[in-house]
Amino acid sequence: MKKITLPGVSFPVSQAAMGCAYLGSREPEDVAFELLDIYYEAGGRFLNTAHEYGHGLSERTIGKWMRTRGVRNEMAVTSKIGEDHSAPAALAMHGDELRVDIDETLERLGYDCIEFCLLHLDDESVPVEEILDALDEFQRAGKIIYYGCSNWSTARMDAAAVYAKSRGYHGFVMNEIEMNLTRRNIVNAESRIKWLDGDYIAWHERTGMAVGAYSPLAAGALPKLCVGTELSAYQNKAYNTPYNREVARRLMKLSQECGHTQVELQIAYLLSQPYEFPVFPILGGRTQEQLRESLRGLSCPFTREMFEYLHPKEGEY
Ligand SMILES: NC(=O)c1ccc[n+]([C@@H]2O[C@H](COP(=O)([O-])OP(=O)(O)OC[C@H]3O[C@@H](n4cnc5c(N)ncnc54)[C@H](OP(=O)(O)O)[C@@H]3O)[C@@H](O)[C@H]2O)c1
Repeated sequence: MKKITLPGVSFPVSQAAMGCAYLGSREPEDVAFELLDIYYEAGGRFLNTAHEYGHGLSERTIGKWMRTRGVRNEMAVTSKIGEDHSAPAALAMHGDELRVDIDETLERLGYDCIEFCLLHLDDESVPVEEILDALDEFQRAGKIIYYGCSNWSTARMDAAAVYAKSRGYHGFVMNEIEMNLTRRNIVNAESRIKWLDGDYIAWHERTGMAVGAYSPLAAGALPKLCVGTELSAYQNKAYNTPYNREVARRLMKLSQECGHTQVELQIAYLLSQPYEFPVFPILGGRTQEQLRESLRGLSCPFTREMFEYLHPKEGEY
């Protein structure tokens, strides 16, 4: 697997990260280890987890896998903090809460430091000053190497950048956000979740900051729209729209013409952005075959014509 350079980061990372949200919970440890082995054998060295995933089971599982395989020094680990699922919809973005989270994250992983620490969500009632002071403190203490955000508004990312500059802090090095070929149903979508629309593209073009593309297959909804299997209630609400159904139809047509599967094409799309900022997909396969199919997408050719075709224009859907 190729490596890519993220602006502001001193070491290269794999062009696709491994999403570990369900490892140790929905996927029991033996299944999780098999998936991690497949990603590793494909050359992947970039893991993505969160303090909240499986209430710590994801972090514990990948920590154990790295120890068992003796590969910690090869891996770049991202974890996300600041979300508290012990209370419904609770965030934990105050400095003291972030301090508890980062220490728990490191304890669960079993290592003293992670490469990337992101803020999982945002609580706009907490000043960016308080949040960045805490992240800078973790960095100076050697607990994290870099930090970034996920699901933040562009206005708050701007405010964070202004404060970081004023204090001489390194600032955010990436934004983890939903990005795939679909357009979310904005009316029904949960407000805390953000997705890469035109405003974010303009923001990233301006700043050059890297995008970690989560839910690269629209949380499994787009493969289902392609083959016509039933969507879950959540997928139905967020993704079952005329635009997304047209994207699915075009993906299937393209797949027949070029011989690559619709899933391979969806991953290849994320690697073939025409924008002036790096994008890396965070792969989310549940089974070995699903993960292998996504990994095959990393070497699937993808042209500018395909990019245009997979973005239906007004009046075409
Ligand atoms: N920062 C955030 O707020 C945030 C939010 C979400 C995710 N993430 C990160 O992103 C990672 C990936 O997200 P995701 O799980 O939503 O990714 P995704 O790839 O969009 O969705 C995964 C689902 O897609 C389906 N799938 C995968 N490969 C397939 C294949 N080859 N054929 C058919 N269906 C396939 C499976 O659904 P079925 O189970 O129905 O088969 C699988 O559970 C997570 O693990 C996490 O690390 C971050």
